[in-house]
Amino acid sequence: MTSDHIDRIRTDVAHNARVWNYWLGGKDNYPVDRVVGDRVASLHPSIGEVARADRAFLGRAVTHLAAEAGIRQFLDIGTGLPTADNTHEVAQRVAPDARIVYVDNDPIVLTHARALLTGSPEGATEYVDADAHRPEAILDAVAPTLDLGRPVAVMMLGILNFVLDTDEARRIVRTLMAAVPSGSHLVLTHPTTDPELGGEGNVEAMAFWNANATPPITARSREEFASFLDGLEVLEPGIVSCANWRPRPGQGGVVAQFGAVARKP
Ligand SMILES: C[S@@+](CC[C@H](N)C(=O)[O-])C[C@H]1O[C@@H](n2cnc3c(N)ncnc32)[C@H](O)[C@@H]1O
Repeated sequence: MTSDHIDRIRTDVAHNARVWNYWLGGKDNYPVDRVVGDRVASLHPSIGEVARADRAFLGRAVTHLAAEAGIRQFLDIGTGLPTADNTHEVAQRVAPDARIVYVDNDPIVLTHARALLTGSPEGATEYVDADAHRPEAILDAVAPTLDLGRPVAVMMLGILNFVLDTDEARRIVRTLMAAVPSGSHLVLTHPTTDPELGGEGNVEAMAFWNANATPPITARSREEFASFLDGLEVLEPGIVSCANWRPRPGQGGVVAQFGAVARKP
């Protein structure tokens, strides 16, 4: 870590990676993150459940991809702070030779990268400090670790919501998926204000977030979420609340976060 990275850490403004860590019950957050996190939770009381459901979805999706779809390469963009069952742990539990590249642009995640980088000796676990708005740069940076001639699971969980322009978000997804071959997969989660998923609370909560925290966020409708999957084969059960994507016994339910996994034909 360089002094530049330390300078980028701001403890006077709530950061998404740290507040997400707070909602997940983690300790890698500052008082400002907890104040904003509590206020958001007062406006959208199920936000902690959303965060936990999103992580559980990640575990099920990665397990499916490694165990059943034979995927051995994972590009996890918008990694977040290390928590239980990070992508490399889930994937390498099934396939010790799995190769994972994490990407995030938050300096606090960078400071924890070393903790993320303890993968299996047979596989590879790398971290890239990069911005999702620049997918071409991400593709260049992953080239030493991932063979883009072989299938890759491109994972964007809870991150396209920080790309405010929907056309730009589509371009990012298209650029990434164009660079990987048939048999690759896209794994997405995204918050919504859709009342069908109980998302009404997100309206005020996101307005509060955007006035008090960083980076700014947006919600998307089912149609907008579906447009990120254009040209891909969406796996069963389709676009659902991420809690209801192939839930295990004792899981399931509805949270205001879409989830889907799709395969590039
Ligand atoms: C809501 S968290 C989700 C973390 C993890 N993917 C999960 O589902 O638990 C979003 C993450 O995206 C990162 N992020 C936000 N905007 C980003 C950008 N433009 N480029 C890269 N990462 C970004 C944040 O720093 C944060 O760690």
